Amino acid sequence: LRVLSVASEAVPLVKTGGLADVAGALPAALAPHGVDMTTLLPGYPAVGKALRRARKLHEWPALLGHPARLLAGRIGEHPLLVLDCPRLFAREGGPYGDPSGTDWADNWLRFAAFSRAAADVASGAAGVPAFDLVHAHDWQAAMTLAYLRFASDTPDLHTVMTIHNMAFQGWAEASVFPRLGLPRSAWSVEGVESYGGVGFLKAGMESASAITTVSPTYAAEIRQPEFGMGLEGIVAARGGRVHGILNGIDPAVWNPGDDAALAATYTRSTLARRTRNKRAIEQAMGLEPGEGPLFTVVSRLTWQKGMDVLVDVLDHLVGMGGRLALLGSGDAGMEAGLQAAAARHPGRIGVRIGYDEDFSHLLQGGADAILVPSRFEPCGLTQLYGLAYGCVPVVARTGGLADTVIDANPAALAAGVATGVQFDGVNYHALRSAIDRAIALHARPEEWRRIQRNGMKADFSWAASGRRYAELYRSLTGKA
Ligand code: ADP
Ligand code: GLC
Repeated sequence: LRVLSVASEAVPLVKTGGLADVAGALPAALAPHGVDMTTLLPGYPAVGKALRRARKLHEWPALLGHPARLLAGRIGEHPLLVLDCPRLFAREGGPYGDPSGTDWADNWLRFAAFSRAAADVASGAAGVPAFDLVHAHDWQAAMTLAYLRFASDTPDLHTVMTIHNMAFQGWAEASVFPRLGLPRSAWSVEGVESYGGVGFLKAGMESASAITTVSPTYAAEIRQPEFGMGLEGIVAARGGRVHGILNGIDPAVWNPGDDAALAATYTRSTLARRTRNKRAIEQAMGLEPGEGPLFTVVSRLTWQKGMDVLVDVLDHLVGMGGRLALLGSGDAGMEAGLQAAAARHPGRIGVRIGYDEDFSHLLQGGADAILVPSRFEPCGLTQLYGLAYGCVPVVARTGGLADTVIDANPAALAAGVATGVQFDGVNYHALRSAIDRAIALHARPEEWRRIQRNGMKADFSWAASGRRYAELYRSLTGKA
């Protein structure tokens, strides 16, 4: 079965969040199930650099107005296609914005062009044999499915739309519609029209053979306005075709027994070795050693992630004997609030603003607990990395966080199955009492080690989820 995975980021070439981890891991997760997956990425500078001796497969004289080429390479051991379109993608900065973090004003055009190209590739019109199925990720790839449906020779090609985050929908003014190269028939509520403009994610959802999101709980949550953010009606209407398939973690990248970013590698029978990682974190962040737990946070600093509530609760965390090592970047106000807390509590709170893949591994490998107080979380990966690394997750009970952590309530402790702490409602009091519970559990070393080991034993590999995607592809295509 040949599947084209269309994504705006993928590890190890370009990453701003969990989408990259997932798009990067899928080809290997699907291969054991007889799925041959090719990934299509935009030709950002970092992607271009990684393409050695790229082969040109196709040329568009004017892809939505811009000259572009299709290049072939490899991502790990798997086939990669790259849309080389310098005017749209060869820019300094991130995949979606300039170096100061401001979104590019023409993102609608950049990802419409990317999707137009993806539809050509999928349907065999770009020098590559047609694929059996297209799997599009998030709004940046969603329009692929609308181009296939309204403007291709293969309107019936099987398609899967995965929503990694409903909060990013890709909405543009109606005035851009004539520049998308879609027929007038696409302009309808069952097509690309959304609240008076063009809705990229919405168009993908309307056009997909099946919709998936990245956890069962989030799949149920997005039927409600609070989580569906205006698209809950489509989710409800397409009910039977909306599947929640949990993300896995890539053991080649996240394995404490074999992780070059750690000061000391370890397994669940050598947990004491984690102390060396903790010392390395303390040194790197100027923290004083202490008895109480070392909490960590590795996160985008945004409202979604509850980082405003975290800022408020830090004095209490330190007052209870806890310490914090935080790595993240994002909202300027939250960055300032965190830095102010670090200044109030030197030696107790360390804050590193920025993005650092290796340091994120060290934090998971040495901190006692990871805080994930998200207001909503489609899946969440840092709690999964925490489980795998014996860094006990303390999480809000929402989305994938609800599905992956077993709360250390008295029954779960008695049964010996707890893997972390969950709390309801992201507010000061709820987070504060979750932190108190974690600190109390940490003071009982036997109990704590049991929780760590339970998490490390839990299986969040791609084995189960890879099979579910493969089954979904097969049920849609009817191919073995
Ligand atoms: P989201 O995609 O919503 O940001 P996820 O938990 O799914 O949330 O994925 C976040 C990914 O980005 C994880 O791999 C996490 O380790 C990584 N990450 C987030 N912030 C940073 C940072 N500042 N430095 C390094 N890695 C980070
Ligand atoms: C999104 C979500 C996150 C999820 C990731 C990968 O960024 O916010 O919860 O883990 O996509 O699916």
